Amino acid sequence: MTTPEVTGLTAPLSALLGKGTKTGTADPAAPSAAATAPAVPADSAPGTSAATSPATAPNMGAAPGAGATVVPAAAMAGLPGMPPVPSAGSGTGGATSSAVPGTASAAPGAEHYLGFAAVPGMSAIPGTSAIAATQTVPDPNSVPATGTVPGVDAVPTMGTVPGMDAIPTTGATPAASAVPAPETAATVPTTPAVPGIPAAGAGPASVTQQFPGAQRGAFSPEMARRDVPILHRLVNGRPLVWLDNGATTQKPRQVIEAVAAFYGSANSNIHRGAHTMARDATALYEAGRAAVADFLGAPSPEEIVFVRGTTEAINLVAQTWGRANVGPGDDILVPVLEHHSDIVPWQQLAAETHARVVPVPLLPDGQIDQFAYADLLSSRTRLVAVSHASNVLGTVPPVAEMTALAHRYGAKVLVDGAQAVAHFPVDVQALDADFYAFSGHKLFAPTGIGALYAKPELLASTAPWQGGGNMIESVSFDRTTFAPAPHLFEAGTGHISGVVGLLAALDWLSSFDHEAIAAYETQLLAYAQQVLAAVPGLRVLGEAPDRIGVLAFTLAGHDPTAVAQALDLEGIAVRSGHHCAQPALAHYGLDSAVRASLALYNTPEEVDQLAASLLRIQQS
Ligand SMILES: Cc1ncc(COP(=O)(O)O)c(C=O)c1O
Repeated sequence: MTTPEVTGLTAPLSALLGKGTKTGTADPAAPSAAATAPAVPADSAPGTSAATSPATAPNMGAAPGAGATVVPAAAMAGLPGMPPVPSAGSGTGGATSSAVPGTASAAPGAEHYLGFAAVPGMSAIPGTSAIAATQTVPDPNSVPATGTVPGVDAVPTMGTVPGMDAIPTTGATPAASAVPAPETAATVPTTPAVPGIPAAGAGPASVTQQFPGAQRGAFSPEMARRDVPILHRLVNGRPLVWLDNGATTQKPRQVIEAVAAFYGSANSNIHRGAHTMARDATALYEAGRAAVADFLGAPSPEEIVFVRGTTEAINLVAQTWGRANVGPGDDILVPVLEHHSDIVPWQQLAAETHARVVPVPLLPDGQIDQFAYADLLSSRTRLVAVSHASNVLGTVPPVAEMTALAHRYGAKVLVDGAQAVAHFPVDVQALDADFYAFSGHKLFAPTGIGALYAKPELLASTAPWQGGGNMIESVSFDRTTFAPAPHLFEAGTGHISGVVGLLAALDWLSSFDHEAIAAYETQLLAYAQQVLAAVPGLRVLGEAPDRIGVLAFTLAGHDPTAVAQALDLEGIAVRSGHHCAQPALAHYGLDSAVRASLALYNTPEEVDQLAASLLRIQQS
C-alpha cells in the first residue's frame, strides 16, 4: 500500500490519519483499487480514473469489456428497478439551507462558536485563528494531564450568547485532576433524597464504590465529562443535566477541534483534483471510512457507505435493494418497537411494490415476542428490519438469533443501530447483519453524517439511488459507467467535515474501554431504575432484561410535556412526546411519555437530581 503524501495537516487532523486501520483491509490514506477508482472519477482529469474495478449496477445493463457497467444514458430513467433520480430540490438536503433564510443567524450558539478567537475568555481553536501556524498546533494527544487542556479552556463564554447563562468558571479550566466539576457532588445542587434511596452524592459510599465499572479499564464518566465542554454550562441557572442522549449526544472537544481544524487548515473537496489539499481531505475521508469499518467489525471499508444518518441509510436500502428485491405478496417484518425511521420507509416500499409490512408484536415487558416472530417468518419474508436497541423502551433484542432465524428463510436483515452504537460494542459479522445503519450524532459526532454497512454481495448487486458526481467513472450522452461501491451510493459532495468529526468521535470513544463503558452504563441504568421506582406515580415503560439506559416514563396526573418543561427549569434536559415510536407507545396505551436517556458521561448525581425534581413536580 502506498501512503500518500500528507504534509500540511494540523496536529488534530494528522493525529487522526491512520486511525481505524487496525482491522480494516483498506489503507485509508490510499484507498484500495476499488476505492481508488471512484476516488478520482467523474470530475477528474481524463485518464486518471482506474477502470479496473467493475461497477455493478443491476438492472442497468451489462458492461461490455471494460469492467465498469455501461448504461445507455437515454435508457437510465426507464429501467426496471431503477429509482427515479431525485430532483435537485428533493435530494438530501440540497436546497434546504438556502430555503431557510436566516438559519445561520438564527443559531447564535453556532455563530458564536465559530468565532472562537473573538470570544472573550476563549483561546483560539487550533487551526482557526492560526491557520498558517500549522506546524505549531499542539497535538491534543500529547497534552499533559496536569496542564491546561486546550479546547477546554476554550469553552465558549456562554454569558456572551443571548439567552445563555454564564459558565461559572471563566478562567482556564483547572488541571484534569483538579477539575472542580459541575459533575461533583460539591457543585451539583443538593437534592433532597428520594425516600428510601440515599442520594448518590450524599451517602457514605463513593461513586466509585457504587459504580466499580467506572474504574475498570481506561474509563470513568468524569474522564468523559472533562472532554465535553457543553456539559459545563448552565441552563436556567443550574448546571446542565443532559439526559436527552437518545435524541443526540454532546460532542467532545476533540470532535469540535477536529472539525474546526479541518475548516481552518484542510478544507477541500475530495476525490478530485491532484492538489495537496484534495489529497489530504481525501485521506481523512477514507480514514473515516476505515475507522467506521473497524468500529462496526466490518471486513472492509468498502462495505461502508456514508449517509446523512440512520434515516437516510434505511431509505437508501428501501429504495435500492428493496425496490429490486421486494415484490407483490412479499413480507417485511418490523417489530412494534421500531422507530418511525424503520417503519415508514418500509411502508412506502410496500405500497409501491404491493408487499406487506408485518408488525412483530411485543411482550408486556417490551421484548419482541420471539415465538410470534418465528411464526411470522415464512418463505414470503424478504426482509426483517429490527433495532439493535429501542429508542423508547431501551430493549436490546436478540438480533444475532433473529438474524440467524431470518436467514433460514432466505430473508435479509437490516439492523437499525442508531441507539446501540454509543452504548455497547457492535460486530456486524458476529450479528451476520446484512445491513447495519447508524447516525454519527448519536455517537458524539456531528449531525448530518452516518453510515450504512452492507454485505459486499448486496452492495455489488444493488443499483444506485442517486446519480451525479462521485458515483460514476465516465459520463457521456451515449453511455455512462459507474464507480463501484461504496462510492456508487455517494453521489455528490459528501459531508466531509462530518466524516472528520465522526473519525474524531470514534477516536475519542476508542480511548476508553468500550466494555467498561457498557458495564458502567448498565450500573447507572440499574441505579436510575431504582431511584425512579421510588417516585410515587412514576411508571417506566418496558422492563426487558437486556436494555440500554433509556427510561421512558409517565408521571401520574402530569402531562409529559409539562414534566419535561418543569425539569428544564431545573437544568434537566429530557424529551417528551411520542419519540418517533408511536406503535411502541400504543403498546402501552399511550401517545406520549417523558424520556430520560443516559450516556457514558452521565452520573448517579444527575440521576438523583432527576428523581428529586420529579418528586417535587409530583408533590406540586
Ligand atoms: C432507533 C432509531 N432509529 C432511527 C433513528 C433516526 O435517526 P436519525 O434521525 O439520526 O436519522 C433514531 C433517532 O432517534 C432512532 O432512535
